[in-house]
Amino acid sequence: MIPELHSDRILIIDFGSQVTQLIARRIREHNVYCEIYPYTKSLEEIRAWAPAGIVLSGGPASVLNEDAPLADPKLFELGIPVLGICYGLQLMIQQMGGEIEHASAHDEGAEYGRAILRVDQTDPLFTGFQETPSQVVWMSHGDRVKILPEGFVVLGTSEGSPHAVVRHKELSLYGLQFHPEVAHTENGAQLISNFLTHVCGCSGTWTMSSFVDEAVAGIRERVGDARVICGLSGGVDSSVAAALVHRAIGDQLTCIFVDNGCLRKDERAEVERLFAKSMGLKLVSVDAGDHFLADLAGVTDPEVKRKSIGKNFIEIFDQESSRVGGAKFLVQGTLYPDVIESVSVGGPSATIKTHHNVGGLPEEMELKLIEPLRELFKDEVRALGRELGLPESSVGRHPFPGPGLAIRIMGEVTKDRLSMLREADAIAMQEIRDAGLYDEIWQAFVVFLPIQSVGVMGDERTYENAVALRCVTSVDAMTADFYDMPHVVLARISNRIINEVRGINRVVYDISSKPPATIEWE
Ligand code: XMP
Repeated sequence: MIPELHSDRILIIDFGSQVTQLIARRIREHNVYCEIYPYTKSLEEIRAWAPAGIVLSGGPASVLNEDAPLADPKLFELGIPVLGICYGLQLMIQQMGGEIEHASAHDEGAEYGRAILRVDQTDPLFTGFQETPSQVVWMSHGDRVKILPEGFVVLGTSEGSPHAVVRHKELSLYGLQFHPEVAHTENGAQLISNFLTHVCGCSGTWTMSSFVDEAVAGIRERVGDARVICGLSGGVDSSVAAALVHRAIGDQLTCIFVDNGCLRKDERAEVERLFAKSMGLKLVSVDAGDHFLADLAGVTDPEVKRKSIGKNFIEIFDQESSRVGGAKFLVQGTLYPDVIESVSVGGPSATIKTHHNVGGLPEEMELKLIEPLRELFKDEVRALGRELGLPESSVGRHPFPGPGLAIRIMGEVTKDRLSMLREADAIAMQEIRDAGLYDEIWQAFVVFLPIQSVGVMGDERTYENAVALRCVTSVDAMTADFYDMPHVVLARISNRIINEVRGINRVVYDISSKPPATIEWE
């Protein structure tokens, strides 16, 4: 729904760099819409998308190899500004008739990490750079330019790259040997901004409020007067998707929230309060805890727990949605990283996909999908949520797994254990919030360990359960480290849990990283 309305948009052609998504996020930070296409897209498709500028990403290949991923050479004749980054630069230079060499041919040729860029020329790309002609940039290349094609000039150099910044004298074709998208490149954001504004003429009008206007118009047009259903989990993505669709079509939307009996303390009440009471959204809130727990009785295998909860969720969701007569559409909170076509260049895929199917809605339901967050990255979804007036407690939430507390109770899930875990978890979360640490942590939670150990309370000997507190930092959940929690907060959490939750007499802090451990315990 966005691209048609935005002439101000940039196309990133991906050659397999691990940081291609970072380029996209940097561009969008300047309020310019962009998308990532794999290098295999045809020239016609690229032209049809009508970008105001094209960025060629880096990549792990060498243009000197026979099977190097190529661009269509006509790309450089479209009259559209191009910025080649690292591999993208080398490709452009080679395809325009220049020459690339393995840097190892020279002693100081290859550059990895920090380098000093000297800007030798004035150029629209360097707007605002006059006072900082020398700056730190981040390099990562084994090849470099040997001979420039005709018409190209050097704008900047580094010790290992006599052609660190190049451009065509007349055409808006630029190349950078370094990576402007990474945080270590000092003026990277400014360079990207200059390319967008002064080279491509983008005016930076893609804001969350313009996104809302366009998305709302697009959803209205697509849906007409049909009914729409949405599975609400209370997580960021489904909450924001529901709020957006609700803004567009109001009461035509019915959200279904299934309480599987394994939610955190007060979770259902909070979802009901926020969505039904404050936002006035039509919400079917189903208390199906007993149904789920009956099926979980005696189950200890984590994968069987997941399957049981997944199967029952689908069954209940299906049941409830069939009661919403005449529903034609289903809202899903799919995000952009899930839909980017990944390219595999000489090795493992550049995009590492998450392995969990969050939500898991029935595929056989004959509903058309509305995926209003398909173009957005996670941090943009949060910004969108704020724009739509969702509270911070909702948009800033840590991820929470679909099977919920069931996979945070080692062994069998029982009502007693759930209730102990809920209390302990609520205490930990409250203390973490009160200490102002919530936003520093990717995920924080308590795990119930059905291991009894001896304790002493008053004059009494106790023989009760333990819980583990797990707090991790991460960027994408694929790797994680334990959070270095101040001892005073740990002490408060432990003290309160042991004093306030009957049945728990020991609290331990999980100090494992992922890998080799995982974030969840099951
Ligand atoms: P692990 O434990 O694999 O978790 O390091 C990585 C991320 O995935 C979440 N997770 C799940 N999410 N259903 C979900 O919706 C699941 O079965 C599931 N298992 C793990 C976990 O909370 C973390 O954010």
